[in-house]
Amino acid sequence: MRVAMFSAKAYDRKFFDAANSAFEHRIDYFEARLDASSALLAAGYPAVCVFVNDRLDATTLEALATGGTRTVALRCAGFNNVDLAAAERLGVTVVRVPAYSPEAVAEFTLGLLLALDRNIPRAYARVRENNFALDGLIGRNLAGRTAGVVGTGRIGALVARMLRLGFGCEVLASDVVQDPALVEAGVRYVPVRTLLREAEVISLHCPLTPETRHLIDDAAIAAAKPGVLIVNTSRGALIDTTALIAGLKSRQVGGVALDVYEQEADLFFEDLSNEIIQDDLFQRLLTFPNVLVTGHQAFLTEEALTAIAETTLGNLADVEAGRPSTHTVSASAVRSGH
Ligand code: NAI
Repeated sequence: MRVAMFSAKAYDRKFFDAANSAFEHRIDYFEARLDASSALLAAGYPAVCVFVNDRLDATTLEALATGGTRTVALRCAGFNNVDLAAAERLGVTVVRVPAYSPEAVAEFTLGLLLALDRNIPRAYARVRENNFALDGLIGRNLAGRTAGVVGTGRIGALVARMLRLGFGCEVLASDVVQDPALVEAGVRYVPVRTLLREAEVISLHCPLTPETRHLIDDAAIAAAKPGVLIVNTSRGALIDTTALIAGLKSRQVGGVALDVYEQEADLFFEDLSNEIIQDDLFQRLLTFPNVLVTGHQAFLTEEALTAIAETTLGNLADVEAGRPSTHTVSASAVRSGH
């Protein structure tokens, strides 16, 4: 199938070209992010391949459909950036990669937590300046601490397991469905409000939905344990950034590690080192010594990139052959909770 890939980076090309030796797709790579104006680039392509910050709102989807595109292949798990109702109305099939390497994200989450808690980025910067003083670098053991994992799907379950079995934390979890294997491992399911109130470390792994948007808001922060650490490798809008900044200023929040940010579409994946960043909230976040931000890289391992490329190309082959796929996402399925 002819595929227009948007937001394509050198690493996408490398892993997709390698995986495509087992398929016969013709992939053209475009650096542009997909939105209503760049959709013209896809005219004549039956399929587009997109990533987390491509914007597939109704206008973009209409432009794609007018140009003859009938398939959107997401090379990610989340699909909050696609207007599924509009896609259904326009007869555009949407496929995604539900699971590529939950380990990649889970391991990175623990990496962020340890780096934040033990001040590793600050220590690294100090030592490079020949500053070997330890003042201000005191951390806390994870062992015995209460950690809360919101969303125990593929990634959250691994994080909960690592925290419980690897580090010896008390682990509270919250999800609409419980994972019996986690309960057996000693993880305790509680309502989300209890988790947010009792956890000393909170890690977010639920999807972004109208219900979970700004899950961490002023009220959640006010009710949390003083000095709570928050890690978010899921989706930026789970956290109200303004509330987070207020919580950091008052020291109610003891530290934050973010791989995702609500307005990341304007920033992440690009080299903006010569630009003046206009996002004042983001700039304020970066001024706190106890805030650690990475640019949506939790997925970025060789294993994950290989799995993403293979599954995406397989999805496109299934659509082309008219084979039904469990990787299809549709508005009706989401509405019915599948
Ligand atoms: P998953 O679908 O396997 O798990 C999500 C879990 O959240 C499910 O168990 C679901 O029941 C639960 N959930 C849904 N609504 C909830 C609510 N209101 N409260 C609590 N739990 C709720 O998804 P997976 O693969 O574990 O991914 C989790 C998140 O990580 C997704 O938002 C995904 O977009 C994000 N992600 C981030 C990456 C990164 O590079 N930073 C890479 C891959 C995924």
